[in-house]
Amino acid sequence: MSDVLKSPPAAPFTGAKVLAVTSGKGGVGKTFVSANLAAALAKRGHRVLVLDADLGLANLDVVLNLHPKTTLHDVFTGKATLDEAIVKAPGGFSVLLAGSGMVEYSRLTPEVRDEFMDVLRSLMPRYDVVILDTGAGISDVVLFAVSLASEVLVVATPEPTSLTDAYAAIKVLATQQKRQHVRMIINQTARPGDGRAITTQLQQVLDRFVTTGSGRSVRLIHVGDIPADPSVREAVMRRQLLLVNVPGCPAALAISEVARKLDESVISPSEFGGRKTTVP
Ligand SMILES: Nc1ncnc2c1ncn2[C@@H]1O[C@H](COP(=O)(O)OP(=O)(O)O)[C@@H](O)[C@H]1O
Ligand SMILES: [Mg+2]
Repeated sequence: MSDVLKSPPAAPFTGAKVLAVTSGKGGVGKTFVSANLAAALAKRGHRVLVLDADLGLANLDVVLNLHPKTTLHDVFTGKATLDEAIVKAPGGFSVLLAGSGMVEYSRLTPEVRDEFMDVLRSLMPRYDVVILDTGAGISDVVLFAVSLASEVLVVATPEPTSLTDAYAAIKVLATQQKRQHVRMIINQTARPGDGRAITTQLQQVLDRFVTTGSGRSVRLIHVGDIPADPSVREAVMRRQLLLVNVPGCPAALAISEVARKLDESVISPSEFGGRKTTVP
C-alpha cells in the first residue's frame, strides 16, 4: 500500500473544508446526502462544490438531472479546463461530474492520484466547502479520495449488513489513515433515536477491537439521523433535488439539521450560529 493512503494529509491545501461522504456498503444514500447537504450548506451562505468522486459508479449527474458535455474526465485528459467542467446545480451549488468516461479511473494509478490532487488544489481557494461523494468500501480509490478530506462522514443504514460494512470501513480509516474521529450519519431510520443507539453500539465494538495509530480508539461523532421517507425515492425518480422541491418533508428537515450541526462544528465553528460572514 502506498504512503498516501496511510494517513490523512496534514492540511495539504488551503481554502475550503473538504468533507468526504463515504460508506461501507453501496446504495445507502451517499449521493443523496452529498447533493442535499450541499444544497443545505449553500442555503446557509456557503460556496459549495460537490465532486463526484465515485469514479467507477458515478451517478450524481443522474440524481441532479444534469447532462454535462464536459466532465472531470476531460479535465484529467487535458481536453477541457476546470472552469469548463464546473456545472451549476439546482440548489445553488456547483458540481464537478465524473461522467461515464471515468470508469477507467476506478483503479488508482499515480496519474489518477496526481490529477485528482491537482483538481482539488485548484478548487480549494474558490469554495468554502468541497464535498467528495466517494464510492463505498475500502478500495484504493475510495481510501485515496477519503484521505484528501479533513472530515469523514460515514453514511450507514440500520441494516445489519450496512453496519458490519461500516465497521470494516471505519476500522481501515482508523488504522491506515489514523483517523481519530469519524462522523456518522444514519440514513433511512425508522424511529427517532435509532441512529444514536446504533452509533453507540458501533462505538462499543470499535473500543474493543480497534485502536488508532496513537493507541486510542477511534471516536464516532453522531451527526444526525435521516428518516426513511417516501419523498426521497419520489424525488430521485423525478430527478429532483429533495431540498429544493420538498423542503418541508422529514428527510429534508433532517438534512438541514445535519448541515446546521456541521456548519457549527466543522465549517465555521468560531462564528456564532455557524453562518458565514463576509470579511471586508
Ligand atoms: N432517507 C431515505 N428514505 C428513503 N429512501 C432513501 C433514503 N435515502 C436514500 N434512499 C434511496 O436509496 C437510493 C440510493 O441512494 P444513493 O444516494 O444513490 O446511494 P449511494 O450513493 O450510497 O450508492 C436512492 O435512490 C433512494 O431511492
Ligand atoms: Mg452514489
